[in-house]
Amino acid sequence: MDTMRINMESGQPTHLECSAQINLGSFYTPLWLVQIAFRMLIWHVNPKDYLLLDSACGYGSFLTLPGFQAYIGMDQDLQALQRAAELCQQPNLSLLHKNALHSVSRVHFNIPNSSKLIIMGNPPYNDRTSRVRAHLKDKSPLEVDTSLKARDIGISFLRSFALLEPDYICVLHPLSYLIKRANLQALKNFALHYRLLDALVVSSQIFCPKSLSYFPIIVALYKRDAQGMDYSYIARFCFKTLENKCFTLEQWDFISTYVDKYPNQQRVDSKVALFYTLRDINALARSKTFLDRQSPHAIYVPAEKYSLYCYIDVFKTQIPHIPYYLRNCDIFLDFAQFQNLEEQFIHASQSKQISPQIARYFRDLLGVHYL
Ligand SMILES: C[S@@+](CC[C@H](N)C(=O)[O-])C[C@H]1O[C@@H](n2cnc3c(N)ncnc32)[C@H](O)[C@@H]1O
Repeated sequence: MDTMRINMESGQPTHLECSAQINLGSFYTPLWLVQIAFRMLIWHVNPKDYLLLDSACGYGSFLTLPGFQAYIGMDQDLQALQRAAELCQQPNLSLLHKNALHSVSRVHFNIPNSSKLIIMGNPPYNDRTSRVRAHLKDKSPLEVDTSLKARDIGISFLRSFALLEPDYICVLHPLSYLIKRANLQALKNFALHYRLLDALVVSSQIFCPKSLSYFPIIVALYKRDAQGMDYSYIARFCFKTLENKCFTLEQWDFISTYVDKYPNQQRVDSKVALFYTLRDINALARSKTFLDRQSPHAIYVPAEKYSLYCYIDVFKTQIPHIPYYLRNCDIFLDFAQFQNLEEQFIHASQSKQISPQIARYFRDLLGVHYL
């Protein structure tokens, strides 16, 4: 039991090899973070009338939370469930060895239709199409209900929660599910029927201290709500971070308003340069900028947009000054200030020399977020 307690605190399972940990998305939640989620929940709701479900419970850290009427834990990993059974001493606890993305329904998961339900946990996320650590990813994943199929298993989990119609959902997941329009759209029934009530952004470093780049994870509380949430709701939402910072998406202007982010070779014929496909800030940190050769990933840069692509090239040099919680955002800018410094950005990109004025521009752009 002692060894297990130590491993719960470090957040890592002991019974899995590295590749199995990545395939199952088994990055367990340290107890202090489980407590943060619990405090967020009980600020808004009294758990005593509710059944708690964690459908990807691992060693069961969320099932140890006090005060719920009954508890259901589920995992496809039998060894993890056996440890959860040793660790969780709740009187009304049932543990089910199931694939939480298959035949999703209250009946199949032993949840009475009459029960008021809260889902808590840290569902796995694993973008199967991403190239990061692709060699370790399982090419033949578990069966997933058709309506839940998505490129990221975490998005499938959020959709599965909505099917069970809980009153509240309090879970950890990548912030990118909300702040990237395509992801928010991919949440489908979840975004249509749930609304973000409260949130805290923390770093993925908590789960993967050895990773080369960190990204934001949100501890998010959602309430069932007929209005759901759309991108403008998320853009206005004030995201607090563990470091006591706060940001909204609408406070920035993004480069996607001004330039093409994806190959545009069908539409643009006269070009002065080639630029690599743009995604978010973390992707820019890993990718090339200007290309010296034609490629299917190339964006054609027309003369009138050249200075903006120089801006992106210079922005890349400033990424070390940007905190993890903004790293899944698009490249942002202050367009009026950029116009004042346009020639300097071209020069900085070509000479690889950052002038004091450009350094100052980035300090002002990031304000309290500048590292
Ligand atoms: C990030 S861990 C979270 C564990 C625990 N809730 C915690 O926060 O410490 C994700 C868990 O999801 C489980 N899992 C992955 N795919 C699953 C599936 N399709 N059905 C059920 N459990 C699954 C993994 O075995 C792993 O235990």
